Amino acid sequence: MTERAYDIFKNLPILETERLRLRKLSMRDAADVFDYASVPEVAEHVTWEYHRNISDSMHYLRFITQQYQDGIPSPWGIIHKELGKLIGTIGYHVWSLPNGFGEVGYALSKDFWNKGYTTEAFEEVIMFGFERLKLNRVEATCKLANTASEKVMLKCGLSYEGILRKRLFAKSEYHDLKLYSLLRNEWEQNQLKKIK
Ligand SMILES: CC(C)(COP(=O)(O)OP(=O)(O)OC[C@H]1O[C@@H](n2cnc3c(N)ncnc32)[C@H](O)[C@@H]1OP(=O)(O)O)[C@@H](O)C(=O)NCCC(=O)NCCS
Repeated sequence: MTERAYDIFKNLPILETERLRLRKLSMRDAADVFDYASVPEVAEHVTWEYHRNISDSMHYLRFITQQYQDGIPSPWGIIHKELGKLIGTIGYHVWSLPNGFGEVGYALSKDFWNKGYTTEAFEEVIMFGFERLKLNRVEATCKLANTASEKVMLKCGLSYEGILRKRLFAKSEYHDLKLYSLLRNEWEQNQLKKIK
């Protein structure tokens, strides 16, 4: 863990996909964050509670912007380019430099579910992980009932590894988590197949 490596999270670069722009969150995003984070279904399978008021969204954004300043792994905001609207977040919330792995999390506005947006963003975040963070392994977990999240992982080429029993304590109870991962060599092979 070097100070230089953590500078990447201080200055998270903008990533572009066909329909999306991934950029750092700012306090100006409070209304858009509240729009999606105040929907209970969006928060059902994540660690955070749905936002009751705009102060909850501002508190979240203050926390994330402080994390950027401290160089702590933090998410990008997902911007819908055509609408110019922030519709969710995605990013590394765990980065182990000595072990070469990173763990990705994401959440999207319900209005935009099942249109391939998270898959599109995750593919870009995976590329960033292997190319910029020099990872050897990208991983992600989800609760057993979170079929949509599991599907995203599969579409992005991750493989199922097993169940982490009672791995997460959230909302007053322990939850089993499914663990998925993608290794650098698998990702490189997938990239080659896409070119051929
Ligand atoms: C998980 C989440 C980010 C997925 O985002 P998304 O942009 O809708 O994902 P995509 O459109 O790229 O892919 C979703 C896939 O799941 C499928 N899916 C969705 N709900 C499903 C269900 N109940 N059963 C089976 N498949 C389902 C979709 O059909 C789609 O697959 P397809 O492209 O083969 O049709 C979104 O549902 C979300 O924000 N959920 C709440 C927060 C959350 O759970 N975050 C993840 C925590 S681990």
